Amino acid sequence: MSRLVVVSNRLPLGDNPSGGLVVALQDALRSSGGLWVGFAGEPVESPEDELAWHPGAAFQRASFDLTQEDYEAYYLGYSNSVLWPLCHGRVDLMRILPGHVEGYRRVNERIAKLLVPHLRPDDRIWVQDYHLFALAFELRKLGVECPIGHFLHIPFPGPADCAALPNPGELFDWLSHYDLLGFQAGRDLSNFTESARQLAEIEPLHDHRLLLQGRVLRADVYPIGIDTAAFIEEARTAPDEDRMRSLTGAQMMIGVDRLDYSKGIPHRFRAFQLLMENNSDLHEKISFLQIAPPTREAVEAYQDIREETEHLAGRINGQFATVNWTPIRFIHRPIPRNVLAGLYRQARIGLVTPLADGMNLVAKEYVAAQDVSDPGVLILSRFAGAAETMGDALIINPHDPWELAEAIARAMRMTANERRRRHSALLRDVVEHDVGWWSATYLDALAAA
Ligand code: ADP
Ligand code: G6P
Repeated sequence: MSRLVVVSNRLPLGDNPSGGLVVALQDALRSSGGLWVGFAGEPVESPEDELAWHPGAAFQRASFDLTQEDYEAYYLGYSNSVLWPLCHGRVDLMRILPGHVEGYRRVNERIAKLLVPHLRPDDRIWVQDYHLFALAFELRKLGVECPIGHFLHIPFPGPADCAALPNPGELFDWLSHYDLLGFQAGRDLSNFTESARQLAEIEPLHDHRLLLQGRVLRADVYPIGIDTAAFIEEARTAPDEDRMRSLTGAQMMIGVDRLDYSKGIPHRFRAFQLLMENNSDLHEKISFLQIAPPTREAVEAYQDIREETEHLAGRINGQFATVNWTPIRFIHRPIPRNVLAGLYRQARIGLVTPLADGMNLVAKEYVAAQDVSDPGVLILSRFAGAAETMGDALIINPHDPWELAEAIARAMRMTANERRRRHSALLRDVVEHDVGWWSATYLDALAAA
């Protein structure tokens, strides 16, 4: 079997790297003597002209380092101040600076140069996410001919948003050098095709093939999953002492998200406030636990959200709390996975309300963690990629606080029969389409492309 080479911005480090993507790719990497290349994590003063090797995993791992200037331009700049807001429908938050796109090109070129001496002619290369759109283009320039696939973990923008890029054609030039483009949801594949039609040159061929900028490639939808079996076990055996206790016996509602503006956390808080204002019978009956670790705090667009959410939570608690009951608890840090799994299992409602999201793995984790005999209710934004396959959740529009408040009230009052019926349909999908299914399906398609 040919070797699998995975390239992502973040390299999973630690002796026992966990996390869905690593687990998904571990078998393919291990059985093919594979290699994973990514960023070491912190910028350095004088970067090495070589990859650094990290022993300890069942596959090879190698990292590249970046200067502060490259890190600012490529990661904080073009990746997270242009592409991330663009792909999440927030062109108003884009900060376009000429030095940033140059830094993005430079870093993609540098990764290609560092990688090439370690490639073999029969390798398969799988590039992950929006940080590395230009990597295949740079590898081809250096004469690499092996199959190269790309998977985009976040949404692909439609033509109106794509047109806000300084040079939209360049994005499609970069993408045309891949053999396979993988998207999370049908909506992303349609956006990609329509944007390419309006802003570049594309001609659909048969069997998911197309001609993009004169090159033939394949593009299709591969919705990512979680390591479902492991997560079910994690939740079943979660430590008891971490369970949330409430003096009033209130039901718990949980939200778990990086503190990102795309996740709709303030919208969620406002809907909760509305619910409390209009349903006094639910006072002391529901406690909302929002876990939201900080993320990308050096990026300007992330700088106000902590204050905004803390302010809202404080106001709602001030308005409704009683001696025995705190309506919202807001935890601003990461928590261990087994504790998280136990909290999901205990929560009567899982609240997943992004304004835009590639897939949203929290929705799948929440479903996997439930006790099948007494499961909770998933409330899911129709703007999460997950909504395309998780139609048995309560699907809502996160921009409409009335609709969201009504869904929470409905979930609180839902009969056990209806909860079980909805949950069993959701669980079936999360079990069948786990992360192993995702990587195997993608890699088969890459082999065929
Ligand atoms: P995104 O990739 O945009 O962050 P996802 O929902 O797809 O959103 O994935 C988030 C992942 O991060 C999930 O696996 C989730 O369990 C994990 N996560 C999010 N918040 C926390 C937290 N506070 N502690 C531990 N894990 C977290
Ligand atoms: C999303 C992106 C990933 C990214 C993750 C965390 O899931 O799709 O590529 O790694 O967010 O963001 P960070 O900037 O901390 O890597």
